[in-house]
Amino acid sequence: MKITLFSAKPYDRQYFDRFNNSQDIEIEYYETHLGPHIANVVEDTYAVCAFVNDKLSAPVLQTLAERGVKVIALRCAGFNNVDLEAASRLGLRVCRVPAYSPEAVAEHTVAMLLTLNRKTHKAYNRVREQNFSLNGLLGFNLHGKTIGVVGTGKIGKAFCKIMLGFGCKVIAYDIYEDADLKQAGVNYLPLKEVLATADVLSLHCPLTPENHYMINGESIRKMKKGVVIINTSRGGLICTTEIIEALKEKHVGALGIDVYEQEEKLFFRDLSENIIDDDNIQRLMSFPNVLVTAHQAFFTDEAMRQIAEVTLNSITGFYTANEPANEMILI
Ligand code: NAI
Repeated sequence: MKITLFSAKPYDRQYFDRFNNSQDIEIEYYETHLGPHIANVVEDTYAVCAFVNDKLSAPVLQTLAERGVKVIALRCAGFNNVDLEAASRLGLRVCRVPAYSPEAVAEHTVAMLLTLNRKTHKAYNRVREQNFSLNGLLGFNLHGKTIGVVGTGKIGKAFCKIMLGFGCKVIAYDIYEDADLKQAGVNYLPLKEVLATADVLSLHCPLTPENHYMINGESIRKMKKGVVIINTSRGGLICTTEIIEALKEKHVGALGIDVYEQEEKLFFRDLSENIIDDDNIQRLMSFPNVLVTAHQAFFTDEAMRQIAEVTLNSITGFYTANEPANEMILI
């Protein structure tokens, strides 16, 4: 059985080869992302394995189905890049890795927050230049601050628990309230109250057509002046041009993003010798109070092991027994 894996980086090969114990599985790796330009190279393939920025639109899925592909295996949790309706219509079965170390993403979110509020990114550079001055490094305690969390699923829940441990007041909005979190002290409120009350706002909900650009000029104006916003979920939750304006007006005190709405043109690649023509990301990176990481929140050894193991098991499950392991079914 053959798997064709797109957006393959050296670390993907390392973990997938390590967990591919079966003699029957051949994995063909393509470094390029999956899109209409490449879908027709797929040959004799049972499953196509894709990542966050691969484009699984209806035409791409149509080509894959015509070429005999049976399974789309997402090696990620988010699935906003797949046209599930088209997949279902074409008889393609889709699986994902529903959870791969939610703690990895939650801990990275905390790392971003601590960098921004204690300015360790500046301190690191400063002492290397033998500048031991503290001017400009003034931070604030997280203890006692109100942390607003949007989406308290696996990652949001892990993040809430860490923040409670810091002595923060945690308020949250989710379509479903989590009983454990309520018991632990998290206070569920309507979204607009969470936005209006939080000192720090962290996004952990999936991107859907309904919440696209939920953070925009209008919603930001209702937030506290100086609010710190962290997004490790999906770039499309934030309207980049409008948050840039809010940063210029100093309404947003700091911004940490591990995801960016145009990230597929940039992230996971070394562009250090290129001229980047995305002025929005360049503007964001020019702010001293903005931290950008390139979709690395998941990137720990524990998560990579789980991604490879769960993906290979799901595909084998389909192949050998038609077993719907981690299958995504349209309701
Ligand atoms: P999950 O499915 O366990 O939790 C998502 C939560 O969001 C659920 O409780 C759901 O009820 C809630 N939700 C759905 N729509 C909402 C809305 N409009 N407003 C508020 N809450 C809403 O998912 P998990 O594992 O916690 O992942 C969350 C997101 O994190 C993923 O969708 C993905 O976009 C992102 N992610 C980012 C990674 C990174 O490396 N930066 C890695 C893995 C996931």
